[in-house]
Amino acid sequence: MEIKKQIDHNHVPRHVAIIMDGNGRWAKQRGKERIYGHENGVKAVRETLEAAGELKIPYITMYAFSTENWNRPRKEIDTLMELLVNTIRNETKELCNKGIRLHAIGNLNSLPGKCFKELEEAIKLTENNDKLNLIVALSYSARWEIINAIKNILQDYKNNKTAFENIDNNVFKKYLSTGDVPDPDLLIRTSGELRISNFLLWQIAYSELYFTPVLWPDFNKKHFFEAIVEYQKRERRFGKTDDY
Ligand code: IPE
Ligand code: IPE
Ligand code: MG
Repeated sequence: MEIKKQIDHNHVPRHVAIIMDGNGRWAKQRGKERIYGHENGVKAVRETLEAAGELKIPYITMYAFSTENWNRPRKEIDTLMELLVNTIRNETKELCNKGIRLHAIGNLNSLPGKCFKELEEAIKLTENNDKLNLIVALSYSARWEIINAIKNILQDYKNNKTAFENIDNNVFKKYLSTGDVPDPDLLIRTSGELRISNFLLWQIAYSELYFTPVLWPDFNKKHFFEAIVEYQKRERRFGKTDDY
């Protein structure tokens, strides 16, 4: 693939986070119900994981369902949860073949029991895989996560497990659901929307942002490689300057 040749394999991002958006519009363009778009989004997940594997990227986080998505019509939520259960079940073997370890972040207790169980099983079955970590954000929102972190810090403070002076960036980070995972180097959002929609607010402080008009079900390896090429053109300064 021509675009892949442009990638410098020594400087690939360690962590790519993705807001998989545009399924509903993709379906609507075809005169179908929104769920048809979600179903067709599964292929894009596979493509992305394959591309990440080829580049030896160790962490991919995918935003699959937000806290706010619970406000969608019941029917869409139910079919989406069912799709999730089936996808996890069908793909676990393939995850193992590819050496992919599954993790999940978010308010997992709010998921339907069947979904939670399937997820737990897949996490267990893939726990020894070490090529790529796939973190799925489910019933996730960054504000929920931050509030949760604060509650846990206060609890530990009350139990004398942490001191006031101890709280710094590194300690706070450990209380987030991403724990020891490095912050995303690159955040990709599909579908042309230019917003973050409550995703990883703390972790993306210095991530490079990449927006593409491609709707999620159309997203493929080539699009992923394009994002990496663009990422490698960026100069990451972290507040410093290169002028001296
Ligand atoms: C993203 O696609 C998937 C989820 C949020 C679950 P959407 O369902 O948001 O599709 P659009 O943005 O309405 O096209
Ligand atoms: C963000 O997409 C959440 C996921 C991709 C899971 P939304 O479609 O829910 O976001 P908004 O409503 O356009 O901001
Ligand atoms: Mg959307």
